[in-house]
Order: sequence, then C-alpha cells, then structure tokens
Amino acid sequence: MVSNQQSTAVAYANLAFIKYWGKADATLNLPLNNSISMNLSAAKTTTTVTFDATLKQDIVTIDGQPSQSNFSQRVSQQLDRVRLLAKQPQLYALVDTHNAFPMGAGFASSASGMAALSLAATSALTLQLTKVELSALARRGSGSACRSIPAGFVEWLAGDNDTNSHAIQLAPPNHWDIADVAVVVSQAEKKVSSTLGHKLVEQSHFLQTRLAHLPNRLDRLRQALLDQDFETFGQETEAEAITLHALAMTSPHQTGTAWQSGIYYWTPDTLELLLAVQSWRADGLPVYFTLDAGPTVHLLCPADKVTAITEAVTMIARQQPNRHWDMLVSYPAIGAHLID
Ligand code: DP6
Repeated sequence: MVSNQQSTAVAYANLAFIKYWGKADATLNLPLNNSISMNLSAAKTTTTVTFDATLKQDIVTIDGQPSQSNFSQRVSQQLDRVRLLAKQPQLYALVDTHNAFPMGAGFASSASGMAALSLAATSALTLQLTKVELSALARRGSGSACRSIPAGFVEWLAGDNDTNSHAIQLAPPNHWDIADVAVVVSQAEKKVSSTLGHKLVEQSHFLQTRLAHLPNRLDRLRQALLDQDFETFGQETEAEAITLHALAMTSPHQTGTAWQSGIYYWTPDTLELLLAVQSWRADGLPVYFTLDAGPTVHLLCPADKVTAITEAVTMIARQQPNRHWDMLVSYPAIGAHLID
C-alpha cells in the first residue's frame, strides 16, 4: 500500500496578449484559437499535494483553511485525471495551496493553481511526464493553466485533440524587459465566470469575424514579441483586448430571469483608466493596456517606465477620496517547477 507521497510545486498565473475566448470542446478545454501569454512574477501559487492511503476523500485547503466547494471539486476532478494516469483510482490526497497575491485581484488563480497542482500531483506519484504532457494535463483543469507550465513568453497551440493542445515557450523570461502593472480597481466577484463567458460568446455575431482576423494578429504579435518591437506588440495586444470585450458585450445571457444583451466586465473606474492610457500615450509614455474577463486593467510598459506609470495611476486614483486601487507589478516569470 502506498502512503504519504508528497510534492510541492510553484507556478505563476499568466497574462494573455492574445486571448483564449471560446472553446471548440468544453470537456477537453480545446480552445477556438491559439493564444500568447507571459507568466507574471507577482502572481505566484505554491501547492503541496500529499497522497495518503488512509484518506477516504480529497481534502483541499487554501492557506490551511477549507476551500470553497467549487474549487475543491475542480481540484478533485484534476486529481482524478492524475489518479487515472497512475492507475491508483482510490488514492486520495491532501492539497494545500497558497496564493502570494490577493484573491479577486483579477489574476487567473485557476491558471497558476491548476499548473502547480498538476505538477505536484504527478510528481508525488512519480509519473514521468514531459513538459508537453504536463501542459496538456494542466489544460484539462483550466484552459489557461497550460500556459503556466513553460517559462516566460508562451504560445498555446490550440490543436484538435487531448494530446496536441498544449503550450510551448516562445522566449525565456529574460528575453525582454517589460512589465505589467495590474491596477485592481474592484475586488467585487465578477458576475459571469470565464468558463461561462467561453460558452456565451458562441452567441456573439462578431465571433466569426474575430476568428477570421486572428491568424494575422497572432503572426504580427508573435513576431513583435520576438523582435522586441514594443509599439507593434502593444497595439496588437490592446486591440485584441478590446475585441474580447466587444465579444463579451455582445454575448446575450440571463441573470436570474432577466435577459441581458451582453456581459460588462468593466466598472466606470476601468473605463477611466483606459481613457487615461490613451492620454498618457499621446503625451509620449509607452504604455498599452489589456484586460481579462474582469475590471482589472493591466498596463504593459518597458520595465524602466514602471515608476512613471505607477505615479500616473496614483495621481488619478487620488482624484476621488474613497477610491482604493491596488497595484501589482510583475515581470516575466519562470515556469512551473518543484521545490523541496
Ligand atoms: C479571459 O482558463 O479561466 O483570462 O478553461 O474554463 O478554466 P477555463 O477558462 P480560463 O479562461 C481564461 C480566459 C481569459 C483569457 C486568457 O487567459 O486567455
């Protein structure tokens, strides 16, 4: 009987420049398109998995406290996939996870969480997975998690089956000195989850238009990233983010019994910041924004412009007395790895 097989892994959430929005297969988390991202140094998750033959079910904690049931359920489903690979269907685990960033900050903790969990669990059961296999496995837990396995700048190859849909490295973290200043304008939980947003986008009449333009956009952005051409990179990233939100805003759905014409992930503060970015840029500051499915604004800039950006954000934040915005500064981070 096997008991107390333990491993601890670290992974970082990632920020997509070209987004994953819409699934070709919701069970396998196969995306409609390739996406390109960067791991974020401020968004670190550490997860310890301990398989124990005496457990009758999985126990999932966040910082030692019992986690919410939907997170526990997703963790157990991911562990089921690992158990299947290890041919140990009845071997349950204790999973403790720690996020070094605040929940609700607009970072995809499911990406870093599922990446760290997949690595820790497979290592605890001494499964020898390649990086590609590990990325594909992480994808099953949460699509964007596959991009947190390789280091630095990453592309998720959409593929069309369980094994060929995985992420690869485009460039290591030290390839480019850029930064992400994440401005957390609201801590409120979003009303429509990403997982639901992926489904609702099928209703948007603009989805096919986006997909038709994406191959060119992917090529331009990938090349700009490899060439360290910040202007082209920023323009493609910002235009892509707005496309995602245009699709969300044209994805009809129900809240309770009420019909809604679309999903608004922005708050008025979000829009204020987006307009500020336009004026900062007109004043000569090299900064572009992107946003995921939430109100947090990610400001992308050359690393030596971080102070100028945080000062500019602070000035706007102070214009209203009750406004409380948090900022988290990230640089390109390494990939998922084991620690002692
Ligand atoms: C807007 O990976 O969270 O952040 O596969 O259903 O878990 P699931 O979705 P998830 O979607 C992320 C959506 C996004 C864009 C992106 O990160 O590419």
